[in-house]
Amino acid sequence: NGEQKSLIMIFGATGDLANRKLFPSLYRLFRKGLLSDRFAVIGVARRPLTNEQFQENVKKSVVEAGENAGGIAEFASHFYYHSHDVTDSASYAALKGMAKELDNHYGLGGNRIFYLAMAPEFFGPIALHLKSDGLTDVQGFKRLVIEKPFGHDLESAIELNEQIRTAFSEDEVYRIDHYLGKQMVQNIEVIRFANALFEPLWNNRYISNIQVTSSETLGVEERGRYYETSGALRDMVQNHMLQMVALLAMEPPIKLTTDEIRSEKIRVFRSLRTIEGEEVSNYFVRGQYGAGTLDGKEVPSYRDEPNVDKNSNTETYVAGKLMIDNQRWAGVPFYIRTGKRLGAKSTKIIVQFKDVPMNLYYQPNKPLNPNLLVIHIQPEEGITLHLNAKKAGQGMDATEVKLSFANNAINEMNTPEAYELLLYDCMRGDATNFAHWDEVALSWSFVDKISDAWESTKDESFPNYEPGSRGPAAADELLSKDGFFWWRVR
Ligand code: BG6
Repeated sequence: NGEQKSLIMIFGATGDLANRKLFPSLYRLFRKGLLSDRFAVIGVARRPLTNEQFQENVKKSVVEAGENAGGIAEFASHFYYHSHDVTDSASYAALKGMAKELDNHYGLGGNRIFYLAMAPEFFGPIALHLKSDGLTDVQGFKRLVIEKPFGHDLESAIELNEQIRTAFSEDEVYRIDHYLGKQMVQNIEVIRFANALFEPLWNNRYISNIQVTSSETLGVEERGRYYETSGALRDMVQNHMLQMVALLAMEPPIKLTTDEIRSEKIRVFRSLRTIEGEEVSNYFVRGQYGAGTLDGKEVPSYRDEPNVDKNSNTETYVAGKLMIDNQRWAGVPFYIRTGKRLGAKSTKIIVQFKDVPMNLYYQPNKPLNPNLLVIHIQPEEGITLHLNAKKAGQGMDATEVKLSFANNAINEMNTPEAYELLLYDCMRGDATNFAHWDEVALSWSFVDKISDAWESTKDESFPNYEPGSRGPAAADELLSKDGFFWWRVR
């Protein structure tokens, strides 16, 4: 397919993301025949490397990602390296010359993808240079792929966006939220809109609450410096968690086009109830992990991690209650929680339906279970529907049964990685699974009010949860005061 021919420039080509995700993902696309021969990659980074050294790195990262590595020499031969100074126009001029040559050599039609896989402080300056030094004067398409964090708050996000938009139009900007590349996140809309069973019930008349959990066992690892300026709210809630909520809550789009889907998601963000000032503590809970043992290993407290302040007030856990004030969702809480150093690495969505109006199967101390729809995002991928059915044997007692579909058991193949899908989407020019500027801006303005409240008051209870636990006790109270609890389902 000729459309996918493009020159991809990866800024930050010696970094972690490029090596762990981007090269292996490109390789998988190559193996599936989705790249054709008409692609070339220029790795851009500061340190001096020859093309050969760079190609060796690429091969190594593919092998380390556990790929079988057939055709790897041919794949790697499409990779070139440019040692770059991000502030120097001469360096951009050299890059431009190289791009032009490769464009001719591979017949790429002047199509260019600029992938910024590096520290956010360089995003703006690079975008400005790409324009002023002529790299964005192209014959074909030009697209910018940008990693998070997209700003630190609304103000810095606006500033960054303005810099980017001098060189690229909104249509040309692909803001990565890697959760949108996950198979089961993409499945939310199909489960909702392709099943007569769900969409008619998908509202405040039949749904009692929705719970979205993304827990991790890892701590902050080597990222203390970044994480201190971020915390779980900016790192996970502003992007991944709110994106999942938007997909769960949006109205059915009139068509499955990028613009229609994005505009429905934007309307969800616009209907999010603003929570600020003293209200914050009624809706949000923060936590920070202490020291302890996890999987039999001693692990340090957050405050003892490298590059973290000994008195840090940064949260490593957030639980929150979101209200979407529109006709469909009035009165239905969307509970979210995410944190590091918890008991499991798992992302799940649980939709709890309302109880039947009258329970005919009442037994003392044994309430009827509500229907639950569980969407397993990771590590399992699938859906489980919890129903009630008659217990085998005499009598008419109801008992819970589960209908399960496991994605990975049915499709023998490994499900493609998020980055593989997203890179391919970008090459095809499909921005549906990337965050539009309006989504980013609205989610920052929601999150900023919570961080304002948290930054102005130190949480004296920190550290307030143990490694391997389910987070701070206050997160349970957040639900119990509404008469709910976090479901623990498999
Ligand atoms: C990233 C965050 O965006 O998402 C990390 O910066 C977090 O802190 C990661 O660990 C989680 O992603 P996943 O795909 O492992 O759930």
